[in-house]
Amino acid sequence: MKVLVLGGDGFCGWPCALNLADQGHDVVIVDNLSRRKIDVDLGVTSLTPIATVEDRLGAWQETGGQPIGFVLLDLAREYERLLQLLRDEAPEAVVHFAEQRAAPYSMKSAACKRYTIDNNVNGTHNLLCAIVESGLDVHVVHLGTMGVYGYGSHRGATIPEGYLTVEVPQPDGSRFTEQILHPANPGSVYHMSKTLDQLLFFYYSKNDALRITDLHQGIVWGTNTELCGKDPRLINRFDYDGDYGTVLNRFLMQAAINYPLTVHGTGGQTRAFIHIRDSVKCVQLALDNPPAPGEKVKIFNQMTESHQVAHLAQKVADMTGSQVAYLPNPRNEARDNDLIVDNRCFLDLGLEPTTLDDGLLTEVVDIARRYAERCDRRRIPCTSAWTRTQAEAINP
Ligand SMILES: NC(=O)c1ccc[n+]([C@@H]2O[C@H](COP(=O)([O-])OP(=O)(O)OC[C@H]3O[C@@H](n4cnc5c(N)ncnc54)[C@H](O)[C@@H]3O)[C@@H](O)[C@H]2O)c1
Repeated sequence: MKVLVLGGDGFCGWPCALNLADQGHDVVIVDNLSRRKIDVDLGVTSLTPIATVEDRLGAWQETGGQPIGFVLLDLAREYERLLQLLRDEAPEAVVHFAEQRAAPYSMKSAACKRYTIDNNVNGTHNLLCAIVESGLDVHVVHLGTMGVYGYGSHRGATIPEGYLTVEVPQPDGSRFTEQILHPANPGSVYHMSKTLDQLLFFYYSKNDALRITDLHQGIVWGTNTELCGKDPRLINRFDYDGDYGTVLNRFLMQAAINYPLTVHGTGGQTRAFIHIRDSVKCVQLALDNPPAPGEKVKIFNQMTESHQVAHLAQKVADMTGSQVAYLPNPRNEARDNDLIVDNRCFLDLGLEPTTLDDGLLTEVVDIARRYAERCDRRRIPCTSAWTRTQAEAINP
């Protein structure tokens, strides 16, 4: 089928695009390359040396891959071009990765907060609006986040896949039950943008019967999929800096360069994780199992395991002999939280989870060691504070 991969030059989108092309789909990547530009603005580079889009796509074809198209387009700002692209390509599905995805970056300044909301919410709305205007029947698969549920206490309750069944009391004392979107509890402007996306999906599914799958993804770890390993020019990006680096990949990279593992706060924060190979597989499963016409938004929890940050650090320290450093927390968040997650939808569709114990932690450390000389240690600390209180704590 014809699939547009919005944000297909990014960390999750690139291996996904390769996988879909490898599965025989006709893939077009749509990206404005803003992520590469943010690297330049921040003065950082991916730990792994990523090739230009042209070289990536050329290498893919040289290694026998089915050609992947590329369109340079800003989803949030170029509505008319987006509409024309949909009409020209008439895709059966669109996978939407094209958002500013770092919570710390979204909290860096007023400009970063505004950019994150403008970019993410406008981009998602432009896509939905353009699909309606085009009159096409397109399945939208969006990459959301587990963070929409919030990282506060769930009092031991299992987080359902998107919808919560509630009992509503009536004046006569009777009750009715209803399924509602799980209450949103964003912990950053980035997470807030994803909760706003959810409402856009709810509305366009209800009003225009758009077919939408929203994947509430956990923190992705690992770097390459098998296909990214076929040629050095296909290598995936590896973010390690204080804004874009995510916790487990940062620990593994820090261990590789003998940098004390940066635990912020108590380390009692619990987060959901998924390996990049499973992330790619989940998108494929979601595309293969679209909602029926008229069905409400399908929401899957795209994660395979939950871990406490301090336990993760200890696991990596035990594996590599690293030290763990407990640092002031730049985030305004709960000291600790529980996170019990229902992820049966993907398991029922046949996902076989890759876990931390599958030996792939070492693979990430090996990659980080190979490119250790590219690391700028000054970029490792997290300097983006959620409020003035946190700013004073990290810079006393
Ligand atoms: N990486 C993770 O751990 C993780 C976890 C949960 C959810 N997600 C979600 O998955 C998606 C992809 O994340 P990622 O890690 O690949 O991020 P990324 O920043 O590496 O990739 C995003 C891509 O989208 C492009 N983009 C951004 N705004 C655009 C716009 N307006 N028009 C066109 N292209 C645009 C960027 O240039 C980049 O190539 C995001 O929506 C993110 O919220 C990621």
